[in-house]
Amino acid sequence: MMTHFSPRRRAFLQAAALLGAAGVTGAARTQPSLREYTLAPAPAKVALVGDPYPPTDLWTFDGRAPGPELRVRQGERLRIVVTNGLPQETTVHWHGVRVPHAMDGVPHLTQPPIGPGGRFVYEFDAVDAGTYWYHPHSASYEQVARGLFGALIVEERERVAVDRDVTWVLSDWRLTREAQLRTDFRQMFDVAHAGRLGNTVTVNGVVADSFDVRAGERVRLRLVNTAVARIFGLRFDGHVPVVVAYDGQPVTPHPPADGRVVLGPGERVDLVIDMSATPGARFAVTDDFYPRNAYRLLDLAYGREPALRDRPPAPFLKLPDNLLAEPDLDRAVTHEIVLAGGAMGGMGMGGGMGPGGMQGMMARGMVWMINGHAVAESDHGHAPLFTLARNQSCVMRFVNDTAWHHPMHLHGHFFRVLSRNGVPTRHREWRDTVLLAPRERAEVALVADNPGDWMLHCHVLDHQAGGMMGTIRVA
Ligand code: C2O
Ligand code: CU
Repeated sequence: MMTHFSPRRRAFLQAAALLGAAGVTGAARTQPSLREYTLAPAPAKVALVGDPYPPTDLWTFDGRAPGPELRVRQGERLRIVVTNGLPQETTVHWHGVRVPHAMDGVPHLTQPPIGPGGRFVYEFDAVDAGTYWYHPHSASYEQVARGLFGALIVEERERVAVDRDVTWVLSDWRLTREAQLRTDFRQMFDVAHAGRLGNTVTVNGVVADSFDVRAGERVRLRLVNTAVARIFGLRFDGHVPVVVAYDGQPVTPHPPADGRVVLGPGERVDLVIDMSATPGARFAVTDDFYPRNAYRLLDLAYGREPALRDRPPAPFLKLPDNLLAEPDLDRAVTHEIVLAGGAMGGMGMGGGMGPGGMQGMMARGMVWMINGHAVAESDHGHAPLFTLARNQSCVMRFVNDTAWHHPMHLHGHFFRVLSRNGVPTRHREWRDTVLLAPRERAEVALVADNPGDWMLHCHVLDHQAGGMMGTIRVA
């Protein structure tokens, strides 16, 4: 695994995390709360793998992958002018950000697609602090796989007590031996199995060897999984990372279960790590989510400078909560959301196969269903899975009746994860994406406080394209 390109001695581009403000215009000066950006999706060559390989032909935001890190403060307003330089229509979705419906970037559902040469202006408030990201929602199985994604960071109103605040955008690419992208998108095999797994993982757009740290420092590490299918399970040798947020939302600080930080596609985890080893030390960060394909992601490389402090700082306190409405479980309506289909999944058990029957669906690559329905991106008028009255509390009971993992993402809202397989979760964490293991059940709860029709879909983007999507109406 990671056979093609694995980490070599190469300086790691920390700069990617620091130069976030590209594209800020003068408007920010005249109207302090408005942050104006431009994003230009277009083809570009990017040095993903580095010498001696040629640059890789990608689709990028502003010529880079990941696109520029947008970094604002909670309460600020963003205006992002998107000009489409791609040969396809596109949109931009602000994953996890509670935007008004018209700004959510779902083609035909919340806006007309932006045609080649077209332009669209997004404008919304950064209501919640946290780690978010952006990506197209138009043929995303292809557009995200080609390199269209970037981080969106909303800083807390008050300074958080860490020495450094760093983002690692984790991505997975399917490359040829010549470091070119394989353009075999939406292969039936990938769609019906784990999705389009790649062979080259990058951190902030490079095959990195190391990440430089200083002894004694406390780092906030924002992990973003932008891969179209790969699940990460990161272990930090010699360190005890503390999880402080999931999907941007603060959680009681705790070490990850089994010492491993798991991120399904679309998910984010904020860690606080005390660099407690000695100057000159080196520790591997490994990914063993798929145990037979474990690999070293990079090393934490301690510089020679003396330690920043002699004793570890006090335990990290919980980040300030965002103002999310608390679901009222006594009055909540419950909706079951059954995931079915895929390889080894007993397709055909659920009925409701749609036009053309099962054969026709298979031929169109529609092999996944939510509550018996497979929805294609082109099915614009499909009925919502269910409707919620505004401000109604709702429990969604996910049942993964398949042999595969599915990171299920809801737009426009956060939900609390209440239980998994009937066992209450320890932290009742807020999330916008819940990763369901094969055959797993999970209960989540939310308040439907954002009106509109909102996508609910698997963030394995080949699964989404293969039918695993639907909408929820908040009337
Ligand atoms: Cu990150 Cu519907 O998407
Ligand atoms: Cu899935």
